[in-house]
Amino acid sequence: MNSQAERFAELHIDKVQRAFGDTVALRGMDLTIKGGEFVALLGPSGCGKSTALNCLAGLLPLTGGRITMDGKRIDTLPPERRGFGMVFQNYALFPHMSVRRNIGFGLSMRKVGKAELNRRVDEAIRLVQLTEHEHKFPAQLSGGQQQRVAIARAIVLEPPLVLMDEPLSNLDAALRLEMRTEIRRLHQSLGLTTVYVTHDQEEALALADRLVVLRSGEVQQIGSPEDVYAHPVNAYVAGFMGYRNMLRVTVESVNGEHAVVTGDGVRLAGVNRESLPAGAAAVAAVRPEDFTVVSSPDEDNTVSAAVEIVEYHGREQAVEARLSSGEQLHVRTNNRLAPGDKVFLKVPLERVLVFS
Ligand SMILES: Nc1ncnc2c1ncn2[C@@H]1O[C@H](COP(=O)(O)OP(=O)(O)O)[C@@H](O)[C@H]1O
Ligand SMILES: [Mg+2]
Repeated sequence: MNSQAERFAELHIDKVQRAFGDTVALRGMDLTIKGGEFVALLGPSGCGKSTALNCLAGLLPLTGGRITMDGKRIDTLPPERRGFGMVFQNYALFPHMSVRRNIGFGLSMRKVGKAELNRRVDEAIRLVQLTEHEHKFPAQLSGGQQQRVAIARAIVLEPPLVLMDEPLSNLDAALRLEMRTEIRRLHQSLGLTTVYVTHDQEEALALADRLVVLRSGEVQQIGSPEDVYAHPVNAYVAGFMGYRNMLRVTVESVNGEHAVVTGDGVRLAGVNRESLPAGAAAVAAVRPEDFTVVSSPDEDNTVSAAVEIVEYHGREQAVEARLSSGEQLHVRTNNRLAPGDKVFLKVPLERVLVFS
C-alpha cells in the first residue's frame, strides 16, 4: 500500500461547534493536524469526543466553524467524498460477508478492478495477520480478530485520515495491549494520519504524538504526551494525568517563584507558586506514587494519615489513607502497610502542582 501518496500537509479544525438542541457537545474546537500525526482526543464519557470525530468524518454536520484540508473546505462534503477510514468500538462488520469480502467491500464500491482489489485485500489481510481466517464470517471470530477486520477494512482504502472511536474498549485487558501496539505499528509502517478517541489516559499517552484533552466540549490542553503528563494546565487535566490527590489549601505566603500553602493537617513550604497570590484558595495536586512513607512526623512537608484499605499489586501496594481532616489520600508504595496503621507521608515539593 502506498498511503503516503494521499497524505495531506495540514488539516485545520477551525472553531468547530456542534449542538444537539440546547446541548452544546463541541464548543469552538480549534486544532491543526499534520499529515502523518497520531492525535488522541481524550476525556471522560460525554465530553464530546465522538461528536468531534463524527464531525471530521462527515457523519454529523457542523453547527458552526469549518474544516479545511490543505486549504480546501471539506466540512461541506458528504462522508464518502472525504474518504476517511473509520473504526468503531462495535466493529460494525457485515455479518453475512466473509472477512475477505468485508475488507474488499469499500474497494468494490469504488469500482476498483479485480486484480488490484485482490492484491490490496491480500496485503491488508496480511498486515493485520488474518490470512488463515480470510474465509470465516464475523461470528466465527474473536473480538480481537473482528477488530482487526475493521482496521483492515479502513486501511485498505489507503485513506488520507483514519478515525478510530474507542476501538479497543470491547476487548479484554491483554488483547487491548496487543492491539494497541498493533495500531501504532500500522500507523507508523503505513505512514497513516490517525485521530484516535479514548477515555483511557494510558492508551492516549502510549499511542499518540499529541493529545487533545476535552472537557464538556471544550479543549483544555493540546500537547505531546510528555508535556501534558508533566505540565497539565489545570486541575482537571492533572486529575486525568494521574494526580489523584487534590488537597484543598490556602496560599499562606509567597516568596518569588515559591509559596507556602496550608490546609487541614497539611503544610507545604516551597511549592511552585504558579502565579497565585497570598490568600488565594488552591488545590495541591499529588500523584499517588510521589508520596514516600517516612518514620517520623518531624520531617518537613509531611502529612499524617490513617491507612484504611490496602490492595496488593505485586511489587507495590495501592493504599487508601485518611487525613485527620477527613480527606482521603491515594498512595502507591513499596512499603508493606496494613489497615489501621498510622503513617507519615512525605510530599516531594518539586512534584506538587498547585492550581487555583
Ligand atoms: N445524537 C445526539 N442527540 C443528542 N445529544 C447528543 C447526541 N450525540 C451526543 N449528544 C450529547 O453530546 C454530548 C457529547 O457526546 P459524545 O460526543 O458522544 O461524547 P463522548 O464521545 O466523549 O462520550 C453529550 O452530552 C451527549 O449526550
Ligand atoms: Mg463516544
